[in-house]
Amino acid sequence: MKTGIIGSGAMGSGIAQVLASAGHQVVIFDANPSALSKAQSSLKNSFDKLVEKGKLATDKAQECLGNIQFSETIDGLQGVHLVIEAIVEDLAVKQHLFKNIEAVVAEDCILATNTSSLSIASIAAACARPERVIGIHFFNPAPIMALVEIIPAVQTRVGLAEEVKAWVSSWGKLPVITKDTPGFIVNRVARPFYSEAIRIYEEGMADCVTIDRAMTSVGGFKMGPFTLMDFIGHDVNYRVTESVFNSFFYDPRFKPSLSQKRLFEAGYYGKKTGRGFYNYTDGAEQMKPVEDTILQQKIVNRILAMLINECADALFLHIATREDLEIAMTKGVNYPKGLMAWGDEIGWANILQQLDDLYHYYHEDRYRASPWIRNKVAEQ
Ligand SMILES: NC(=O)c1ccc[n+]([C@@H]2O[C@H](COP(=O)([O-])OP(=O)(O)OC[C@H]3O[C@@H](n4cnc5c(N)ncnc54)[C@H](O)[C@@H]3O)[C@@H](O)[C@H]2O)c1
Repeated sequence: MKTGIIGSGAMGSGIAQVLASAGHQVVIFDANPSALSKAQSSLKNSFDKLVEKGKLATDKAQECLGNIQFSETIDGLQGVHLVIEAIVEDLAVKQHLFKNIEAVVAEDCILATNTSSLSIASIAAACARPERVIGIHFFNPAPIMALVEIIPAVQTRVGLAEEVKAWVSSWGKLPVITKDTPGFIVNRVARPFYSEAIRIYEEGMADCVTIDRAMTSVGGFKMGPFTLMDFIGHDVNYRVTESVFNSFFYDPRFKPSLSQKRLFEAGYYGKKTGRGFYNYTDGAEQMKPVEDTILQQKIVNRILAMLINECADALFLHIATREDLEIAMTKGVNYPKGLMAWGDEIGWANILQQLDDLYHYYHEDRYRASPWIRNKVAEQ
């Protein structure tokens, strides 16, 4: 199978590496020649590093690199069976590109987008044959992250998602199928990890470092929410939150926070700019967590109840199967356990009590429990 990849940035070149390593012929097209040559050298570096680390034989690395061609024009995509688009996140630009792709590729070529925040339906709508358009959402860095979300649009032909799922598995990835709704699985279900942590911080219940400590030591997460947001960058993380909130017609459950918006506005993006929730400049004072196990447990219980609620609601609304939700959260954001399994372990009546307590205290819709949890408790 020959695949065309459009956009040679972080995602496009990562996806090219995945496919070339799985033995497929790949052609990368980018409108910017300097981006293309940068991708060429970064791909060579990536394969060289794998050889240095003893993870790949020299001749195998050369073979993989030899599977990748580079094209400065869209005509380079002629003869491909699949296109994966990974250009700038702009609907009008993507729609224009999809129209142009159809003029170059065969009628049965599958057209995929790696968009994180746009609806697949809106991209497919630009095509003469929208039934062949689908979302194939990789995570960054694509060669390392196992999870791939597959998103059929309303226009996508029945059965295509399953076909694409088999291809993605053959590339050594873990595919899950999800509905074309904002944030798909991971960027939807993970929102409370950040937003509830910020809410706790804004209320003064605990500072960032104490919340982070609670989530890593008591919760078992690899990184606390503030360290993770500073690592991802508030330019990226805030924009995702805002986009999910807007796309859900301003559902308060996804409301962004002003503290993060101010960091974003100030250009305090986190680690990469030296300031975020933490100060990374040389000599900056290191904050120390409050070592209060009761407080830390309270923090974990509250954030976890919100995360489990979001996951249960995704199941309630048939966004994905329970199995795919569990794979997505453990492989896409490395949570220590699947959230539904965690709900079983904590007990659904306990989760419901926690959510109802928050709801009655704040009188905010943000804390409404999913009917899935209410039904589950009623059945017990
Ligand atoms: N970076 C991430 O963490 C991440 C994760 C998952 C999905 N995504 C999505 O993947 C896509 C690409 O993201 P990225 O971070 O790799 O972007 P990037 O800015 O690193 O790269 C985009 C590339 O596309 C090229 N390009 C722009 N318009 C083009 C056009 N009309 N035709 C051909 N080439 C064009 C640019 O020259 C650039 O090299 C976006 O839709 C993004 O939302 C990003």
